[in-house]
Amino acid sequence: MERVKTGVAGLDEILHGGIPKHHQALITGTSGTGKTTFCCQFMHEGIKRYNDNGVYLSFEEPADSITENAKTFGWDFKSLEKSGKFSFIRYDPYHIEDVFDILESTIRQIKATRVVVDSISALGLHIKDEAELRRMIFNLSIILRKLKCTSMLVSEIVHGTPGLSRYGVEEFVADSVVVLYYERLQSTFSRAVQIWKVRGSDHSQKLHPYKIDQTGVTVYPKEEAFIKRT
Ligand SMILES: Nc1ncnc2c1ncn2[C@@H]1O[C@H](COP(=O)(O)OP(=O)(O)OP(=O)(O)O)[C@@H](O)[C@H]1O
Ligand SMILES: [Mg+2]
Repeated sequence: MERVKTGVAGLDEILHGGIPKHHQALITGTSGTGKTTFCCQFMHEGIKRYNDNGVYLSFEEPADSITENAKTFGWDFKSLEKSGKFSFIRYDPYHIEDVFDILESTIRQIKATRVVVDSISALGLHIKDEAELRRMIFNLSIILRKLKCTSMLVSEIVHGTPGLSRYGVEEFVADSVVVLYYERLQSTFSRAVQIWKVRGSDHSQKLHPYKIDQTGVTVYPKEEAFIKRT
């Protein structure tokens, strides 16, 4: 199975080589776990190190805020955009039904092979009808598969609720699921990542610690995390 390196140190090891090519990986976790940082690193390293082109669709944070935060890790998305290797999609919330057409044409235009959608749960802010929302998530998955992209789709877990996603459908359209935890152990909070599933492949079954610092995300594939969900 051909793999695409995420560029997140240690994550590729626990995925046994990276995300399978053309797969959609769901990055899920509660607020502040680091979902956007994982995705920015996947995008930046993909373009700079692995020579992929990429498209980032954000339904939540404005592009400028993501670009500014990315700078604190030394990732310059503005210059990547200027060089034509990267595009942020600025969509119109009043014409949300057009967003996937825009995504498709942007992917074709810049010949992107990496895509981030951050977050598919936030689509629910715009689409109130749940059946319609499920149809859109499913549609997104079909487009990404058709265009042969390798993608990270962000999903949110509401703190204190069971399940892997907000609407309960996100994990079923995704080929792989990566769960991020930020949990209290006595007086400190710890970060841990778990590979929940990878269709058609083996992967680490353990919970691994990770850190976020000025260099971005580092996962420790040889260490095990112990967290107690509160
Ligand atoms: N430059 C940085 N240096 C160190 N830590 C950082 C830096 N930027 C962000 N962080 C840490 O990473 C955390 C997660 O940020 P991120 O925005 O990636 O999370 P998220 O899961 O996308 O959150 P949300 O649910 O709000 O979208 C921050 O709360 C902060 O603790
Ligand atoms: Mg985020």
